[in-house]
Amino acid sequence: MHLECVGCGAEYGVDEVIYTCRRCGDLLDVRYDYGDISRKLTYADWERRPQGVWRYREVLPIRDSFNVVTLNEGATGLHPCPRLGSELGLKKLYVKNEGENPTGSFKDRGMTVGVTKALELNVNTVVCASTGNTSASLAAYAAKAGLRCLVLIPSGKVALGKLAQAMMYGAKVVAVRGNFDDALSMVRELAASSSLYLLNSINPFRLEGQKTASYEVWEQLAAEVPGTVILPVGNAGNISAYWKGFKELQALGFADKLPRMVGVQALGACPIVRAVEMKRLSVEPVKDVQTLASAIRIGNPVNWRKALNAFYESKGTAVVVADEEIVEAQKLLARLEGVFTEPAGAASIAALKKLREMGVIQPEETLVCVATGHGLKDPETALKVCAQPVEVDADLEALRKVAGVQI
Ligand code: F0G
Repeated sequence: MHLECVGCGAEYGVDEVIYTCRRCGDLLDVRYDYGDISRKLTYADWERRPQGVWRYREVLPIRDSFNVVTLNEGATGLHPCPRLGSELGLKKLYVKNEGENPTGSFKDRGMTVGVTKALELNVNTVVCASTGNTSASLAAYAAKAGLRCLVLIPSGKVALGKLAQAMMYGAKVVAVRGNFDDALSMVRELAASSSLYLLNSINPFRLEGQKTASYEVWEQLAAEVPGTVILPVGNAGNISAYWKGFKELQALGFADKLPRMVGVQALGACPIVRAVEMKRLSVEPVKDVQTLASAIRIGNPVNWRKALNAFYESKGTAVVVADEEIVEAQKLLARLEGVFTEPAGAASIAALKKLREMGVIQPEETLVCVATGHGLKDPETALKVCAQPVEVDADLEALRKVAGVQI
């Protein structure tokens, strides 16, 4: 097992504190000897273990004997969505509800691995910049591990639930007058010049935990690889992690095909979509980012190279959705399937209509949309876009008049 630069191929050990290549500055990726793993591993070995991230320990970058920092992450539901599917003309639609993770987002898959790695590397303080979920998750796992935690958030731009979580878990929360991209470049500099350990998605170990969602999807579909997987994209780490997970299933001999990866961004924050539309090999950052989906309000995605590889290698694509479409999709998913996801999570549902119109997805194919975070993370947006409760006196007749149903 070693770290490899995705740009120039330079190799580094997995016991180093390193985030990007020292030779060319590009992203790093953990590489395993899949031939060796598949010779020793059978599916039955995994099946015997409890569900969740650590079921797939052979493809995680932590020493076998090391005690992991866990809050029981992963093992989230893959929900068949027949009612939403029939509304959209889709026969096999599933939603992977990552809101079921311990702190309510997919970040927990990455943090269980990233914070365990931090202990393995003997660091005592962890740090991240965040649009909210990363900070909530890192704060929780740092608390569990007994590490100090510093989080930087864009001032006034983080959903309330996420902020409350980071504060309650005891992190030092600093609100930067600027956007997420400013906060990320600050923590990157800080980590480069101090002993603070950075756990944004530029950290290659964190993404290893996130890739386990693909393993779960494959297991939950009874060893079938979906036709298309649709995810919201911000810093572009998660879509890169999913793609890696599916490629590994193939490399290990468990799966014989790969899905198409589709990324979704909001209209006011879509540098990746612009690059994919123009078939470019690099991404032009966007300065002024705006969207109600605050989790993905990101203009300079650090994992752009890994994500572009995912789109081009998988013959997938990236689409943009308007905030109104996101809210519409959020309500549809909640009302037809009982799954309440935050606006960023609903972006994957909002994209379905567009993808049908573009002819990218077919009515019969197996589709997996990832609902990345729980709806309760952002109660303010939910309250704004739904009808307000009707107030009545404590009187049955008054209730009968407003209830609108025979009671
Ligand atoms: N969905 C949600 C709910 C998120 O919180 C994020 C990212 C994404 C999608 C996009 O994932 O960055 O890997 O492409 N949130 C980060 C944070 C940036 O700080 O919580 P990505």
